Amino acid sequence: MPKEYYDDWLEVAEDEIRHFKMLEKLLISLDSKYGDVEVHNSLFEASQKTQTLLERMAVVPRYLEANGLDATPQILNKLDNLVKDEILNELVDSLNIILQEEVSHVKKGDRWFEYACQKEAANKDIYFEIIDKYYPQGFDRARYVNKEARIEAGFSCSELKNIAHKNVC
Ligand SMILES: [Fe+2]
Repeated sequence: MPKEYYDDWLEVAEDEIRHFKMLEKLLISLDSKYGDVEVHNSLFEASQKTQTLLERMAVVPRYLEANGLDATPQILNKLDNLVKDEILNELVDSLNIILQEEVSHVKKGDRWFEYACQKEAANKDIYFEIIDKYYPQGFDRARYVNKEARIEAGFSCSELKNIAHKNVC
């Protein structure tokens, strides 16, 4: 792979470390720590299951991380209804930073997904076949999509229509 590929994912790793540290600091201030509450390890599992560049880029940044772009604003909305204190304010600030920076992770994934499509002489629509293979119910139901973030990250309006089950742009 070109050097830019490794540069991109090292930048992502640096972001992820910073994100983890921001959230870990909040957990510690709540007398907790990472690992006290069960969490999913979908990214790790997906990295094991996908063994080609095309599938890895479709699933990890362009499906799982992109889903995070939709989920975070909904979490922020829920937090908005709670009584604010110092920790909650810090959590909201952290989630806003994470949301902002995750766009670039999905965008990097999009860049290398396109690269893989060209290499395999595949149409970008193969994305939906790959997601259907790993997550058969992944796009079954109409859902909220973070249009601005997903467009910035490289999704097309026709892809967003397939994901949201309606015209979003
Ligand atoms: Fe990320």
